Amino acid sequence: MNYQEKYSALRQCTYLNTASCGLLSTQNQQVIQQATQQYAQQGSIGRDAWFDELATIRQVSAEFIGANSSEIGLINNFTSCIYQVAQLLQGHRRVLVVADDYPSLVLPWHLLGFEVFTITALPDGSIPLEAIEQSIRQHNIEILAVSHVQYSSGFQLPLDMLSQIRQEQGTKLVVDATQSLGVLPINLQETPVDVLIGSGYKWLTAGLGSGILYIRQDLHPELKPKLLGFGTVGSNFSPKSIDNIPFTPETLEAGHYNFSSLLALRQAINELQEVGISSIFEKVMQLRSRLVELLPTNIKLVSDYEVEHASSIVVISAPEDAEQQLKIRNIVTSTRPRGLRISFHFYNNEQHIEKLCVALANMV
Ligand SMILES: Cc1ncc(COP(=O)(O)O)c(C=O)c1O
Repeated sequence: MNYQEKYSALRQCTYLNTASCGLLSTQNQQVIQQATQQYAQQGSIGRDAWFDELATIRQVSAEFIGANSSEIGLINNFTSCIYQVAQLLQGHRRVLVVADDYPSLVLPWHLLGFEVFTITALPDGSIPLEAIEQSIRQHNIEILAVSHVQYSSGFQLPLDMLSQIRQEQGTKLVVDATQSLGVLPINLQETPVDVLIGSGYKWLTAGLGSGILYIRQDLHPELKPKLLGFGTVGSNFSPKSIDNIPFTPETLEAGHYNFSSLLALRQAINELQEVGISSIFEKVMQLRSRLVELLPTNIKLVSDYEVEHASSIVVISAPEDAEQQLKIRNIVTSTRPRGLRISFHFYNNEQHIEKLCVALANMV
């Protein structure tokens, strides 16, 4: 299928940068525009109608990851959400993170005074699982907080392996799925985790301002809400009863919603479901193989991982100004510390990869 009709950015450029920002479909653009129009024309009447949509947005999100809707909270972005999750987990002290993981996943634990232990990725970006297991045992780690796919290398820590570590070591597992949700299959019934958060604007293709929080049901009774507001208690509350409000991920939805973004999130998930997540995954893996095949001989594949650790993000060695040189040829990529980051979603095709490789071969 040619996705140029549906994703207008593909008519403007060769877009290989979903790890930075996913594309918005025409239909989704219309959902956002209609919501804005409804609000402009109807004010509170327009807004009030959307409260009824929240349950289905949670339901669609839950089904997408094999969860229950009572385990889902709707969020604005990853960063503010992980900070709240870290506050919820303050009964624990010792946390393990990957040193060069996405800063928003690493910083809250430091800021909130947790004892933070780190694992350093190898020069190619890979993270040895034995090092994770060893560190958990050695330091008596209570929380493991990692990205499913590393944003700077594309290295995938498969959820089944993380889930097994969680089970064997009794560690709480907090997963940042922002670089995988929407492109790699995730089924939390098969691979249990404690917390999973995904921002909506990359592989979920929902545009800016939304995301999904999952917190496993078993964990709810041991958590206390750290954020309450009108959205959770209404106007009829007594400060004395605050301690008795049970925790659910929905309690984090305490203030007004970014409704148009949430409607876009539902639309995007439905569109991804229509294509099918296994077809999406298969397609990006084919594109990855094609890229590896066509890479000019003077360019090295930095993220040269075993297939179970590969993802839709690839890093290659290239001249320092490669991103700029490609931009002149209308090819969009990102520079990261280990090299040039190329990322492709289901709306990309082999011609995009071929065009990139020709441009790389002609690079000065
Ligand atoms: C691993 C990871 N987590 C989260 C985010 C985005 O966080 P936020 O939604 O707070 O902007 C990114 C963006 O690059 C990311 O790569």
